[in-house]
Amino acid sequence: MSDALTRVEAFIAATAQERLDDYVDFLRIPSISTLGEHKADMLAAADFVASRLSAWGLEHVEVSSTPGHPVVYADWLHAEGAPTAIVYCHYDVQPVDPLDLWIRPPFEPRIEEGRIFARGAADDKGQLHLHLWAARAWLQTEGRLPINVRYVFEGEEESGSINFDAWLRANRHRLDGDVVVVSDTGFFEGNHAALTIGLRGLMYAQVDVTGPTVDLHSGTYGGNVQNPAIALARIITALKREDGSVAVEGFYDDVRTLSDAERTEFARLPLDEAAFVRKLGVSELFGEPGFSPLERRGARPTLDVNGIWGGFQGEGSKTIIPAHAHAKVSCRLVPDMDPMRTFERVRDAVLAVDVPGVTVKVTLLNGGMWSLAGIDHPATQAAARCLEEVFGERPYYLREGGSIPAAASFATMLGVPVVLLGFTNPDDQAHAPNEQMVLANYEGGLRTIARYWEALAGLAG
Ligand code: BES
Ligand code: MN
Ligand code: MN
Repeated sequence: MSDALTRVEAFIAATAQERLDDYVDFLRIPSISTLGEHKADMLAAADFVASRLSAWGLEHVEVSSTPGHPVVYADWLHAEGAPTAIVYCHYDVQPVDPLDLWIRPPFEPRIEEGRIFARGAADDKGQLHLHLWAARAWLQTEGRLPINVRYVFEGEEESGSINFDAWLRANRHRLDGDVVVVSDTGFFEGNHAALTIGLRGLMYAQVDVTGPTVDLHSGTYGGNVQNPAIALARIITALKREDGSVAVEGFYDDVRTLSDAERTEFARLPLDEAAFVRKLGVSELFGEPGFSPLERRGARPTLDVNGIWGGFQGEGSKTIIPAHAHAKVSCRLVPDMDPMRTFERVRDAVLAVDVPGVTVKVTLLNGGMWSLAGIDHPATQAAARCLEEVFGERPYYLREGGSIPAAASFATMLGVPVVLLGFTNPDDQAHAPNEQMVLANYEGGLRTIARYWEALAGLAG
């Protein structure tokens, strides 16, 4: 360890309480990007990030507006001859419902048994926050960073990154770099250190089935009209087979076949299936036949219903035929699937179901590309070494099931490697009630990033 890194580590150790307080303050801001009523909170969160960046010595700090929520940009470009890293995280969070399942309110952080509980603690405000402190630790102790860094913090990741590609294009002039570091992923089951090399893409659509103009008395009219809720059920069952595979015509046509070598890599991961089943609270795992659970998550596409509604939902009974019924339907995509092409196939399959007497509409809500990288790039290998030095175990390489559309956008637009270096514990309950971050992961993540900047400086710029 260099003398500089020793001093940086000492700073990190000495500022633990101040950092935790600052983390808590960040988590208090309800930065939910999908809900219009939180627009001011989104700005407050962007300002929070920008104020830290400015105060701690980053330059060209800007809350850069988009048609949606702003991107926070900053840089520090004085490491002459050293490589430049572009750091991506997101400061927006998911909605908090169902609220009654939270032990404490989602924006009143609670610390218990080495974990901090709050919406965004893990996904992704905790990881963004540790990047702020890694920069602070270097700049305050050494007056410099070992490499050049550009920060790009998004505010719309959880709502589909719909304005992000346009922002990237418009800001291409300040995005020159050698590597993109995305901290929005996490560790393997059992909280084992990991680097993510693959993410799935996404296609998200809504299906609306409309019948009579208003809800009808189910006695007076039952037997005379098609029921939109039943029509919707028919449509959904037409999309999947009983065995869990997708029945949409052509759905698997573009899916890249797993090689024997890839399957060996999946099989090497030590998934404790019984523990996995217990953690999920299900009676057994279920999914497309012929593939292991990790293959199904990392390398096979899926089709799921994310929500379904229509008709009477209240207490007791109400005898109606609902006027309309709806479902949110999404697919996770793998190499070499295309979000638009997948939408067209799903739409055609929905419209092909014969349900007379109702009208059916399918609308694309958002989409995002998958990504897949090799493990041999020097920047990836350096990240693996830093993880091992800090967490004391060699990291696993994961192909994850989640999506980060920005990762693919960076790779295509900039043509540089994207390193998915994230630190969340796999039982973090992201997107669910009582989201949490293991503080040791947060602190280890911070130390890994501080160290990584020095490791990257050692690679050719
Ligand atoms: N951090 C996640 C992505 C993720 C999840 C990566 C699990 C690795 C493992 C990200 O914030 C997220 O939730 N993305 C959305 C994308 C969507 C809104 C376009 C997702 O995957 O559902
Ligand atoms: Mn995230
Ligand atoms: Mn998320």
